[in-house]
Order: sequence, then C-alpha cells, then structure tokens
Amino acid sequence: MENDNTIIFNNLADCYKNPWIKDKKERQRIIDIVNKFGIKKGMQILEPGCGNGEFTPFILKKIGKKGVVWLVDISDKMLKIAKRNLKNKKNLRYINCCASKIPVEKNFFDMVIVFNSFPHFYPKKIFIKEFYRVLKNNGFLIIAHDFPREKINRIHNKANFDMDKNLLPGKREMFKMLKKQGFVIKRYDNKVYYLLIAIKIIYNVRSAI
Ligand SMILES: C[S@@+](CC[C@H](N)C(=O)[O-])C[C@H]1O[C@@H](n2cnc3c(N)ncnc32)[C@H](O)[C@@H]1O
Repeated sequence: MENDNTIIFNNLADCYKNPWIKDKKERQRIIDIVNKFGIKKGMQILEPGCGNGEFTPFILKKIGKKGVVWLVDISDKMLKIAKRNLKNKKNLRYINCCASKIPVEKNFFDMVIVFNSFPHFYPKKIFIKEFYRVLKNNGFLIIAHDFPREKINRIHNKANFDMDKNLLPGKREMFKMLKKQGFVIKRYDNKVYYLLIAIKIIYNVRSAI
C-alpha cells in the first residue's frame, strides 16, 4: 500500500499548516468554495487525501447530525494528526489506505470531495475509476483547490514534486478521463479557485422505454 507519497507526506505532516487556520480572509474563501459543492444534510461523504483534517470541519458544518465524513489518507502520520485535530468532532470514520482502493462496497457515498489532493493521485484514471465505483448513482465527485490550476502546478513544481506524477491536468484531459469513466460534468471553474463537479449517472434503459 505504501508509495512515494506515504514517505513524502509522513515527512511533511508535522509542519503541514493551511493558511485558513489563522487567516480570516482565507477562511472565508474556503467557506465560499465549499458553499458551491451542494453538500446536503445526512450525506455520506468520502474525503480522500484528507491530510491533517484541517479541511474536514468545513464539510462537517454542512452534513448535520446524521451525515458522516470518511477520512482517507495514505500517510499514517497525517491521519494520526487528523484524529488529534478532530478529537472533539462526531460522525467521522478514519481509513489509512491508498484512495485507489477504498475498503467499502460499491455505491456507498453520496459525495466524494477531493480538496487540494487530486494532483498527488497517480495514475489518475485508477482513482477516478475507484471514486466512480464507491459513489451512488447520482452521486457527486468534487475536485477542488483554493487556487486556480496554474498556481497549484507552480507551487508543486517549486516544492520539487515529480511533476509527471503530481500534476493537476488541464481541462480537456480532465473532462476526457471523467467522461470516459461515465461521469457527467456539471461545473468547471478555474478563475480564483479550482472547482470541478461531476456526477455519476447510470441511465436505466428500462425506465426510459
Ligand atoms: C496537499 S495534502 C492536502 C491535505 C488536505 N486535503 C488539506 O487540504 O489540508 C495531500 C494529501 O493527500 C494524501 N495522499 C497522497 N497520495 C494519496 C493516495 N494515493 N491515497 C490517499 N491519500 C493520498 C497525502 O498523504 C496528503 O495528506
């Protein structure tokens, strides 16, 4: 299960901090992005690449008492810190695994939220296939970043990530991969932040006749 990212993010875990933790303006920006996801009360939500759990409270605020967030991360250290950061919160499940092989049955989640993590998933198609498998019919896949794609790729390049494996692909390539898997694209923004919303739609041929 371990791969390069396990080592890289285990090493980063202790000093990993998001700007929205302290900066009010940044925090509001994240709230504005999350407001566009379409999260509803009672949803079962998967958060792959959850890191130290700093993003999770933004989801928790929306799902009410009956919703659940499933935090998945390949880095055991990140997940340990997430558990510590979220120790007072309810309705959480933690899984230390690669997001390409999530140990749940198919058609399980209402929404998969990949926040600031998708570039690190490689090869991308395997992850898209897995998110499709675990989503219910009409479930939502959200791929989002607090900055536009070009800035994200610049940051990762500067941080010396292997850019063959840690790239956020362009619009055309993303659409192609998602559509090939069976997703329908609902929304794409790449101006002040990055937001791609896709839906798993399985057409019931019988009911259409
Ligand atoms: C840049 S951090 C973002 C963390 C969090 N989403 C946030 O916004 O604070 C990316 C996270 O993805 C995780 N990750 C990378 N590859 C992964 C994989 N194959 N499966 C699950 N998690 C992975 C890393 O361990 C890391 O915690």
